[in-house]
Amino acid sequence: MMEEKKQDTLLEIKDLKVKFPVHKDWLPAVNGVNLEIYPGEIAGIVGESGSGKSVMSQSILRLRDHDTAVRYEGKILFEGENLLTKPLEQMRAIRGNQISVIFQDPLNSLSPVHTVGNQIMEVLMLHKRLSKEEARKKSIEMLRLTGIPNPDASMKKYPFELSGGMQQRVMIAMALACEPKLLIADEPTTALDVTIQEQILHLIRDLNRRLGMSVLFITHDMGVVSRLCHSVKVMYLGQVVEEAKTEELFEHPCHPYTQGLLACIPHLRVKRGQELPTIRGTVPSLSHIPKGCHFCTRCAMVDETCKNCPPPLVEVSPGHKVKCWKYAAGKEEKEVVKV
Ligand SMILES: Nc1ncnc2c1ncn2[C@@H]1O[C@H](COP(=O)(O)OP(=O)(O)OP(=O)(O)O)[C@@H](O)[C@H]1O
Ligand SMILES: [Mg+2]
Repeated sequence: MMEEKKQDTLLEIKDLKVKFPVHKDWLPAVNGVNLEIYPGEIAGIVGESGSGKSVMSQSILRLRDHDTAVRYEGKILFEGENLLTKPLEQMRAIRGNQISVIFQDPLNSLSPVHTVGNQIMEVLMLHKRLSKEEARKKSIEMLRLTGIPNPDASMKKYPFELSGGMQQRVMIAMALACEPKLLIADEPTTALDVTIQEQILHLIRDLNRRLGMSVLFITHDMGVVSRLCHSVKVMYLGQVVEEAKTEELFEHPCHPYTQGLLACIPHLRVKRGQELPTIRGTVPSLSHIPKGCHFCTRCAMVDETCKNCPPPLVEVSPGHKVKCWKYAAGKEEKEVVKV
């Protein structure tokens, strides 16, 4: 059933909460996320480890439903339909067909007991109802498109016979075979060497231009964001705290958290629990989420309002939104905060 849908939005996430049971409590790994993705947009998601990027993006396809008890609140509207209320059989028809996902570790997504060719062909026969021969042709074409040398021969190989970079390309070929409207890429290139990484980013950009495919690209690498993404959403402790077009965000970062992240390039990739050089402290655990602004325990600009009241999302310029009291109505100072 169609629900209310904004003009042209491909994906609209409304006040999403994703909770897991921990010690008899339901803790929100995603805690009120609102975001929109437009057709043809490449949207980057950045944030420290544990900010909820993977849980949020996996929830779009309900990939956590089987692993563990999980509770969803809010809405995930894909072309106006709420994915959170769809029966799982209908989700299976959407996965890999309209929305595809690629992860950091290709071996988690590929079956070890089937050849590369059979795996891609199966997706095409299932979702696109292609004949075996048509699926074979299309699979070879997809492998060629991802830059795999000798695609005919590669079709007959098992994933373990390929290098990490080649496995990654196979996973991408599989994810893109059905020409999805949305690709979710969760740190797909982190484990790869720089040359392969560049080729894969080039491929994603190319498919975005040629097919108009939208992309949700999760990364710790601000350099990749600046080169690939049209817009950026910054996540902190389960919430989007700032979003803007990429150039705007890099030129006028407003949230003290975003400023801290940008100031510590290229050291953004720190392990969970480690301190960033530019932001004091570490991300609090889900059982100690502050009742006001989630970032208040680490913010140099913190005051009593920040500690006690959740900040509103303020639009500081068209399309540039910040969840911070410093920018709320009545406060005139909109200069960049020093952290
Ligand atoms: N099944 C689960 N039960 C309890 N907590 C969970 C579960 N899965 C994830 N979490 C918690 O949810 C939070 C968000 O995790 P998530 O993996 O989405 O972070 P992330 O932003 O993707 O981090 P990274 O950059 O390290 O990939 C973390 O605190 C994590 O411990
Ligand atoms: Mg993650």
